[in-house]
Amino acid sequence: MSATPTVGHRPVDLAVVAARDRENVIVGNEIVRHRRASRLIHWSVSLTFFVCLFSGMPIWSPIFGWMAAFFGGLSAARVVHPWAGIAFFLFSAVMFFHWLGEMRFLPSERDWLGPKALEYMRYEGDDSEVGKYNGGQKLFFFATALGALGLLLSGLLMWWPSAFPRVVLQLSYLIHDVAFIAFAIAIVFHIYLGTAAEPGTFGAMTRGTVTRGWARLHHPKWYRDVSGDDGSRRG
Ligand code: HEM
Repeated sequence: MSATPTVGHRPVDLAVVAARDRENVIVGNEIVRHRRASRLIHWSVSLTFFVCLFSGMPIWSPIFGWMAAFFGGLSAARVVHPWAGIAFFLFSAVMFFHWLGEMRFLPSERDWLGPKALEYMRYEGDDSEVGKYNGGQKLFFFATALGALGLLLSGLLMWWPSAFPRVVLQLSYLIHDVAFIAFAIAIVFHIYLGTAAEPGTFGAMTRGTVTRGWARLHHPKWYRDVSGDDGSRRG
């Protein structure tokens, strides 16, 4: 049996080391799913999203006025919000181009727009051909990109209200509100699926790794591609 590698007296976690700059590789019993750059981009999007949400909600309605205290008051929240919005959009754009190549819909995933999503929620249907991302994740990916663009454009109009006709401005308020409410609801589901609903998923965005069992269960085709194990050796 090989000894655990050490630096000085500290054991080295080989999977975490590999996850700095490699992904889709097997290290012992783990598989690197998201390398460090991907995780940093994702958490930058997430952080700026929540700064936007918590600074925007007290501006939106006095019911959420207490949230302004996080920023030192409503006036400060009004200053923070548009700049956080710009940062959120820029990180979202980086995330979009970073993951675009892996998020293309396959013909078999088109029905995610309809019945497949319900089947998935009920743990029904055949998932054996699910690759690194399932159709729902791809849908969510494109929805967040569209949402970020909608929030940016409508937000810019609201930032310079006197530069645009009244009707355009009213439309931008509507788009901004609908987009942020839809976004906030989607993120609740996203966090639930990435944590409590599917144990082991959160580690993909922290350590960068998942277990072989997790990969076989949720993304069997990705597991087969990465491991070369087509399951023929199991009974
Ligand atoms: C506390 C907040 C969040 C948590 C706990 C979280 C968790 C995760 C996890 C665990 C994954 C990896 C899923 C996998 O590898 O299969 C992931 C992926 C992803 N996250 Fe998040 N996330 C959060 C916030 C956000 C926000 C705010 C956005 C966008 C505005 C976002 C967009 C994405 C996208 C596009 C993916 C790739 C597609 C997918 O796996 O759904 N996340 N997230």
